[in-house]
This record gives sequence, C-alpha cells and structure tokens, in this order.
Amino acid sequence: MSTGQPPHEAPAHESWRGTRALRFAWTLASAFVVESLVIGLAVLPAALFFKQHVLWMGDLALAPPGLLFLAMAFLPAYLIFAACLMALSAGASKLFGWRPRPGADMRIADLEPALANWARYGILNHVVRVLVGPALRNTPVWVWYMRANGARIGRRVWINSLDVTDHCLLELGDDVVIGAGVHLSGHTVERGRVRTALVRLGAGTVVGVSCHVEIDVETGPGCQIGSLAMVPKGSRLKGHTTYVGVPVHELAPVTKAPIGDAVP
Ligand SMILES: CC(C)(COP(=O)(O)OP(=O)(O)OC[C@H]1O[C@@H](n2cnc3c(N)ncnc32)[C@H](O)[C@@H]1OP(=O)(O)O)[C@@H](O)C(=O)NCCC(=O)NCCS
Repeated sequence: MSTGQPPHEAPAHESWRGTRALRFAWTLASAFVVESLVIGLAVLPAALFFKQHVLWMGDLALAPPGLLFLAMAFLPAYLIFAACLMALSAGASKLFGWRPRPGADMRIADLEPALANWARYGILNHVVRVLVGPALRNTPVWVWYMRANGARIGRRVWINSLDVTDHCLLELGDDVVIGAGVHLSGHTVERGRVRTALVRLGAGTVVGVSCHVEIDVETGPGCQIGSLAMVPKGSRLKGHTTYVGVPVHELAPVTKAPIGDAVP
C-alpha cells in the first residue's frame, strides 16, 4: 500500500555496513561449516579404529587387561586423526580457493573476498596447529603438512615453530632449519591493512630461536640468522653470512666449519 511518502533509501554508508556485516557472517558461517566437516571426517576413521578394537576384544574389553589394551589404542587413533586432519584441512583450503596470494594489500574494515579467504585459510591452519602442532612440529610429518598446505619446501627441512604461518606464501630450500619460537609468516598487519608477500629462504638457511622474520624477505644459501634477531620486511640477506640484532645487521661471513666437520 502506498503511503504517499517517497520510498526510504538507506544512506550509502548504511548499505555498506550491511554488506560488511553479511560478508562477516558469511565468512564465519562458511568457515564453521567447512571446519566442522573437516574435523568430523578426520575423527571418523579414528572412531572406527577404536570401535574395531572393542569389537575384536568382545567381552574382554571391560576386563582390566582388555581396558589397558583399549587405552593403548588411543595413540594410534590420535595419529590417524592427526594425519586425516592435516590432509583434509590442506585439501579444503585448496578446494575452496581460500589460499592467499602474494602482493595483496587489503583494508581490514572492507573485509573484501580476498581478506575473507585469508582469514578462512588462517582458521583452518589454526585448528591443525592447536590439535596436531604441539605433538608433530619439528618432524617430517609437519613439513609434509606444510607442503600439502601450499608451501614449497625442499628436502631435510626442520621447522620447530608453530608460528610459521601462511604456508602457501613460503619457499624454503633444502636443509633449512627454523628454530623454536620463530615468528615467520607471509602477512603483516599495518595501519589497518593486511599485506601479503612471499618469504624465501635459500638452501641451508638457519633461522635462530625466537627470531622475527617479516614479509618479502629473501636469504641466500647458507645464511645464518642469530637467535632473537628481527629481519625487517623486504630484507635481502646474503648467502654464507651471519646476521644478528634488531634489526639484523651483518656479523661476519660464515667461516666456522659445522661442528661435526671439525678436524681434530
Ligand atoms: C649468531 C650465531 C650463529 C653466532 O655464532 P658464532 O659465529 O659462533 O659467533 P660467536 O658466538 O663467536 O659470537 C660473535 C659475536 O656475535 C655476538 N652474538 C652472537 N650471537 C648473537 C645474537 N644472537 N645476537 C647478537 N649478538 C650475537 C657475540 O656476543 C659476539 O660478539 P663479540 O664479538 O662482541 O664478543 C650464534 O650466536 C647464534 O645465535 N646461533 C643461533 C642458533 C640457533 O638458534 N639455531 C636454531 C636451531 S636450534
């Protein structure tokens, strides 16, 4: 029914606010549904494994030795869950196109689709990091997960930090070692914007414990970064050179032989 009044038009900023609220809700809801599916599918084989154990044991399952045997199934069941969670989570981010690309510069307040993808990728990774990371970091399995999740990683690489994130923006050569407590990722948040760039570590680079490595950093082969150092964004560190400090500065060319190679 017409009231004779001109139709109410929301001011531009109100409709923009509505769009952002919708984007926010959609981002959270889609992440929640996909994550629930990923976790559910990862738990399923472990639950079936457990069930099979109970069926095998029949009446013995509730007797004390049987209970012990059942309890021992926890570790393999957890490992089955962990492997499935890593594979499914990495597969989901690829399937849904949630992996961030380098070179993005996104205003947080706009929550544009690329930012929503980056956030959902982060949520998927965070769940694996919390449920699997403490047990499996610094093992080849963790490197395998990072590769499946988009990182380009060479052979014999050891990553002892769960604060190495944005896997699909990382390129690590053979024999790279990343120490405990290192913070290294392919994004930074500055002045209300999220920016992304690749981080490339040349073969044999060692990042010392508790370093902070920013985006768009490249190191040459055999580069050594001392513990507690800070590598600013855009840095290019030379190969076969040691860097220390906040921000890093060159200490010296690497001249010492690796400890195991010392000639008596
Ligand atoms: C940087 C590093 C490689 C230097 O080792 P090195 O070549 O044997 O050098 P030295 O220990 O002889 O130290 C040389 C100088 O650098 C200084 N220095 C050493 N490490 C430093 C660091 N992390 N930050 C600042 N200065 C450092 C020393 O105090 C010394 O200074 P001086 O000449 O004024 O006395 C080593 O100290 C380091 O930080 N290793 C980190 C190892 C690590 O975390 N690996 C990760 C996996 S566990």
